[in-house]
Amino acid sequence: MFITFEGGEGAGKSTQIRRLAEKIARKGMETVLTREPGGTPRAEILRHFILSGRARRFGPLAEAILFTAARIDHLDALIRPALARGAAVLCDRFADSTRAYQGARGEVDEAQLLALEQIALGDLRPDLTFVLDLAPEIGLERARKRRGPDAIDRFESEDLAFHLALREKFRLICRDAPQRCVLIDASADEDQVAQQIYSVISARYKELFT
Ligand code: TYD
Repeated sequence: MFITFEGGEGAGKSTQIRRLAEKIARKGMETVLTREPGGTPRAEILRHFILSGRARRFGPLAEAILFTAARIDHLDALIRPALARGAAVLCDRFADSTRAYQGARGEVDEAQLLALEQIALGDLRPDLTFVLDLAPEIGLERARKRRGPDAIDRFESEDLAFHLALREKFRLICRDAPQRCVLIDASADEDQVAQQIYSVISARYKELFT
């Protein structure tokens, strides 16, 4: 069971993924909750470098490559071994974030992004991806409140046009992979969003949730 959560800023991914991880763990399944960029000590070094904005001057392609490098370590050292021993892996952001964020402005060629994804993932894809969909005007406001005024991160500081394009990218990803992706209305309150997610999960993994 490899489940990823995706979406723009402030959509509530981290809260929802935690709630889902608790539900799965309560069923007695080993549950690994992780995130990108990061998730392993080496990938967290890259996370720091990218989100501090220091990678920006290398340009959008190099940033995409750094996200991919972090992902390769995360897959090798944590995700693949966990899946091999039968654990449920829940990841807060994954490869769709690279497609959406690094692809939002069209600065990195789509074919190059897909090639990077192929290099990192090989045949592996998440079994299920929840895309939390929210108007960026609302999401950015939520993210700012959560973070405080002084600590805007690398992508939060992009303009509204970027965040609108990002939302469209995530929607397109969902549309193109309907077997894997479920678009979730993240404007509802936390419990209602959790309920939407739970109804998908319990239908998909009937044996675990009956
Ligand atoms: P984080 O603080 O984890 O943000 P959030 O709470 O919104 O998930 O920072 C991750 C940031 O990195 C976020 O702005 C999205 C961006 N990102 C990419 O641009 N490409 C990627 O491949 C990934 C995994 C994240």
